[in-house]
Amino acid sequence: MKPSTLLMGLCATQALAMPGMESAMAEIQARDDFFLEARSTDLLGDLIGGVLTAVGNIIKAILQGSSAVGDGATYTAPGSLGSDACKNDALCAWSYIVKDMSTAFVGAVGCTDAARGAIRQGFHDASTWDKNSPYGGADGSLLLSDELTRPENRGLGAIGDQTKAWYNTYNQYGLSMADIIQTAAKVAVVSCPGGPRIRAFAGRRDDSRAGPTDMLPSPFQDAQSLIDLFVAKTFSAADLIALLGAHSTSKQNFVDPSRAGTPQDSDPGVWDTRFYSETLTSDNTTILVFPSDRNLATFSQTRAQWNSFAGAGGQIRWAPAFASAYFRMSMLGVDNMNQLTEITRVIPLPR
Ligand code: HEM
Repeated sequence: MKPSTLLMGLCATQALAMPGMESAMAEIQARDDFFLEARSTDLLGDLIGGVLTAVGNIIKAILQGSSAVGDGATYTAPGSLGSDACKNDALCAWSYIVKDMSTAFVGAVGCTDAARGAIRQGFHDASTWDKNSPYGGADGSLLLSDELTRPENRGLGAIGDQTKAWYNTYNQYGLSMADIIQTAAKVAVVSCPGGPRIRAFAGRRDDSRAGPTDMLPSPFQDAQSLIDLFVAKTFSAADLIALLGAHSTSKQNFVDPSRAGTPQDSDPGVWDTRFYSETLTSDNTTILVFPSDRNLATFSQTRAQWNSFAGAGGQIRWAPAFASAYFRMSMLGVDNMNQLTEITRVIPLPR
């Protein structure tokens, strides 16, 4: 069900009694329809042409509009890590690594520096791919090659070291670096209060070749070139605006090093839409607004989408929109989607 439909259902009775409510509901519906019309439904990798497996059909449906938010199903490991019972169950080792990740990502109040690093890391591994790339994408190469030395990856050293330590422990149980990076990003999102539980699949192949260059955005880029960069990766402009909400949890160090540690909204431990509204204020004293974010917030093609997340009802629209756009991100460059296994049940429930 569309989030607006849910909201509208809840409000329907009251609307009859409250003047103005009907027009507010119509506005929310219109904004939601705008997003649903504007999101990408492009297929990727081995889902294009050919016969699909059952899991291939599920992933295809999510890329084309089914919800990317997991249901409430959970998982209990049948034995300890390394036991025969655990080795014979595809989700078992995943349940153990996810516990380690949660310990690193859940803070006393909100999510931690490691969580924000893991969300950015998932983006930077996957984003070395576009429609013209013969390789790259969510393939683990960020940590299996020298990609981390590229300037755009500054700041990812600490989470990179932590992720390599997880890989060293869990690769013997069949977990690939590519999957560990994408799963960490999804565990990190749901570790932030308000973050959605994004559906997760495992079985990606690793590639130790450094991915193609010039695939990541700059915080000083103009809106049109940013849209073009993401369209080449099969995202729509609306998807890009949904993805940027990850800066709700961000703290910059290198855009303005003299203000290292300054967040991009006033509560960086929480997965909320203050980032969208506070970017519009351009308050560069308590927070630091990236020029790229400001450019997209005010650009003719994207400002309606930005305002729909910044305004009333924004959170209810943004969380599923982010989930669907990030789900697509986690599949860039993956060409064996027909052979993946769904592991959503091991992802923690929302806080
Ligand atoms: C126009 C596109 C984007 C640009 C220009 C951009 C740029 C940046 C920059 C410059 C930083 C700060 C790095 C530092 O100084 O330490 C940052 C942080 C971050 N970005 Fe983005 N980003 C973009 C899109 C995304 C996307 C798509 C995601 C994830 C879905 C994302 C997630 C994050 C997170 C979580 C952080 C915080 C990292 C931390 O605090 O350690 N960004 N981004």
